[in-house]
Amino acid sequence: NKGNHRHFMEKEIYEQPEVTAHALGHYIDFTQNRVDTVSGIDFARIPSLAIAACGTAYLAGLIGKYWFERYARLPVEIDVASEFRYREIPLSPRSAALFISQSGETADTLASLRYCKGLGLKTGAVVNVGDSTIAREADAVFPILAGPEIGVASTKAFTCQLAVLAALAVGAARARGTLSEDEVQALVKSLAEMPRLMGQVLNSIQAEIELLARELSKSHDVLYLGRGTSFPLAMEGALKLKEISYIHAEGYAAGELKHGPIALIDENTPVIVIAPHDRFFDKTVSNMQEVAARGGRIILITDEQGAAASKLDASHTIVLPAVDEIIAPMIFSLPIQLLAYNTAVFMGTDVDQPRNLAKSVTVE
Ligand code: M6R
Repeated sequence: NKGNHRHFMEKEIYEQPEVTAHALGHYIDFTQNRVDTVSGIDFARIPSLAIAACGTAYLAGLIGKYWFERYARLPVEIDVASEFRYREIPLSPRSAALFISQSGETADTLASLRYCKGLGLKTGAVVNVGDSTIAREADAVFPILAGPEIGVASTKAFTCQLAVLAALAVGAARARGTLSEDEVQALVKSLAEMPRLMGQVLNSIQAEIELLARELSKSHDVLYLGRGTSFPLAMEGALKLKEISYIHAEGYAAGELKHGPIALIDENTPVIVIAPHDRFFDKTVSNMQEVAARGGRIILITDEQGAAASKLDASHTIVLPAVDEIIAPMIFSLPIQLLAYNTAVFMGTDVDQPRNLAKSVTVE
């Protein structure tokens, strides 16, 4: 049932404040502002963590890597599952591995899980479908509790995967003693505020996104740029747009621009720059400057502080509330998803069932 929404994808985008709150509540005790001890993987003892997943779940894992490394000082080896399983990565049996999958049935992710089990690693499943094969075969299950996701393009499963990975990374930091109790509390507090902020953003950007989407629907190619955790988000933005609107899109690390992709810039190629006012903001803005100098059309997605600080003329700026760094990927997912959704609606594609795609890929 789509309720008042035109498509399941739209409904699922708007469900995010509720489902991410639910997901976080499973791992965090908000009354005490603390992360519950997660059982199944002994984050205090493992020397490293491996992650394998496909598509959007892989991009959630990439953002998770930034968090596990930064907060828990835990080295993360991550790859798309179809490569992971054949790479013969030297993995220690003392390590653990996480497999992220909405459906819990993706063939390559399941094969990677079996491969790691065979090597003796402890395995954890970050899944939405609780009785799926991946959930059954893993040593530990970390549910994302997004509820059924019908749209082929993943939206709420992505932000719930992020919410769970953030909670696990903070839990791992606590177990490993890599952050002070105050630092842990501050991160938990930011996570607690996230669902409400999501609701606020969803209520405020729709009209603006529709205008932009109308413009975007005329493009043949779109570039997405970001740094830090905004880099995987740039790739997720490009994936979402190409999946449902069939417009060619690529996500790049902002710093890679001058190593090739800048050759593509002209007045017909919109460049979507994802730049919260974080540690990387000035660097990303200088990459944006390079795009502007070549006549590129920039759509800047930033926050209030970023909008005030960038003196550059973006052809359009989407301004979100300023939020703490750990929740920025979830908050900044919203304009990214809505932009892809509204562009596809303008183009009249089959948004929930895009051509050539299946919700769950159970063959290699
Ligand atoms: O069910 P899974 O999370 O394992 O699926 C992985 C990918 O097939 C999936 O995320 C795919 O990339 C989506 N269509 C993205 O929107």
